Amino acid sequence: MFIRVLEDEQIMSKVKAQMSNRLINKIKNKEAKIAVIGLGYVGLPLCVEFAKNGFCVTGIDVDRKRVESVDKGVSYIGDVKSSEIKLYVKEKKFQATTDYKILGKQDAIIMCVPTPLRKTKEPDISYIIDASKKIAEYLKEEQLIVLESTTYPGTTDEVILPILEKSGLKAGKDFYLAFSPERVDPGNKRYNTANIPKIIGGINSQSTLMAKTLYSQINSNVIAVSSSRVAEMVKLLENTFRSVNIALANEMAIMCDYLGIDVWEVIKGATTKPFGFMPFYPGPGIGGHCIPLDPFYLTWKSRLHGYEAKFIELAGEINKAMPKYVIGKIRDILNNRKKSINGSTVFILGVAYKKDVGDWRESPAIEIISMLLEKGANVWFNDPYVSEIKADDTLMRSKELSKSLLRKSDCTVIITDHSAYDYKFIVESSSAVLDTRNATGDLKGTFENVFKL
Ligand SMILES: NC(=O)c1ccc[n+]([C@@H]2O[C@H](COP(=O)([O-])OP(=O)(O)OC[C@H]3O[C@@H](n4cnc5c(N)ncnc54)[C@H](O)[C@@H]3O)[C@@H](O)[C@H]2O)c1
Repeated sequence: MFIRVLEDEQIMSKVKAQMSNRLINKIKNKEAKIAVIGLGYVGLPLCVEFAKNGFCVTGIDVDRKRVESVDKGVSYIGDVKSSEIKLYVKEKKFQATTDYKILGKQDAIIMCVPTPLRKTKEPDISYIIDASKKIAEYLKEEQLIVLESTTYPGTTDEVILPILEKSGLKAGKDFYLAFSPERVDPGNKRYNTANIPKIIGGINSQSTLMAKTLYSQINSNVIAVSSSRVAEMVKLLENTFRSVNIALANEMAIMCDYLGIDVWEVIKGATTKPFGFMPFYPGPGIGGHCIPLDPFYLTWKSRLHGYEAKFIELAGEINKAMPKYVIGKIRDILNNRKKSINGSTVFILGVAYKKDVGDWRESPAIEIISMLLEKGANVWFNDPYVSEIKADDTLMRSKELSKSLLRKSDCTVIITDHSAYDYKFIVESSSAVLDTRNATGDLKGTFENVFKL
């Protein structure tokens, strides 16, 4: 009887070994079919990268408009060219759908769905849960499932794993499960999905091996860590590091203002040190889908385990207060000209959360515009990448950046330092400029109408 059990186990492990070899070979021969769930800033470039490297990719999104856009070969993400989508759709390497049924035919499924925060600052992983439930419906042996969405440590093995195992299949044996954080930096001309080193952490060594094999096909620098939890924590360390250092730069700016020192010159000076210093810059507040949100995934998880994170909370407090600080600066500029916010026209330049992108999610510009509207200002905005926004329930359209509108406004506020702006023209055409990004820092000459953060 004992010998019989042993024989069965040996046969099973042989079968599993053949299974994993089969998947590895499929991946290496580019025969593996890949599905990406969530065609946003992360998912769309990932699809294009796999298609570029010879794989057949299917993108799944609940947003029908995005799916139709892919079908038509029209990109809606700045870093992805329409011509690329068109080419891979034509070559039948890339297709998009709203139908999850195709999951049953895939070898690898990658989740790139949103991970927002609830109003209470608690993680909202409902998108991950929904996508995982859909995967579980169609899960089959030998599939590799990867999560790329930023989330708290434990999501992959505590939340996704049990959902997928409801299928009756065993994680790490019948199918593989891993986490690989996305590090894409929209608008970055140097680093992209293909050349940003990729971290992989599986729920067991087989899962790590499978995920490493897959990502090695599109990225030459894939780094395996010991578990999915470590990989999840790596991403949170990276984003917390940014949040905390930006907060330090913001507080430095406030202190420099009190002391009458130019913070931008101070940072430039400190940057000459070739070791032990890395420049971070102050600004009107943090935005986007990552830095304002991700660190709070960690504080939440840490609190559940009995530890109250201090750096993250403090950094969040300082960064969150910056839009109000900017309002104070606008008020002072107007006050010195015997004007009040109420009744003045303020021209906001740039509403995207960072330069050269069109993403205005969580952008401090929206909060600043809302506060100005509440205080009775007449607010205009211009952004070469954003045509329309909603602030304080008001729908606003980007205005032309003309000499006459700049002249008519009482204060021009540079919130996003887009490269496309002609800062000399802006300064020369405006009566007063509040520059929250040091975008005018390289202009030759002295401009008495420019005020910096
Ligand atoms: N944007 C970035 O710069 C960036 C960088 C690194 C990591 N991330 C992380 O990557 C994840 C995705 O971010 P993003 O910026 O690509 O988000 P996004 O909002 O641009 O795209 C997410 C897409 O998922 C779709 N979606 C939502 N639920 C779905 C479901 N159940 N099935 C299918 N599709 C669904 C949405 O319609 C949307 O198109 C987040 O966790 C984010 O924190 C983002």
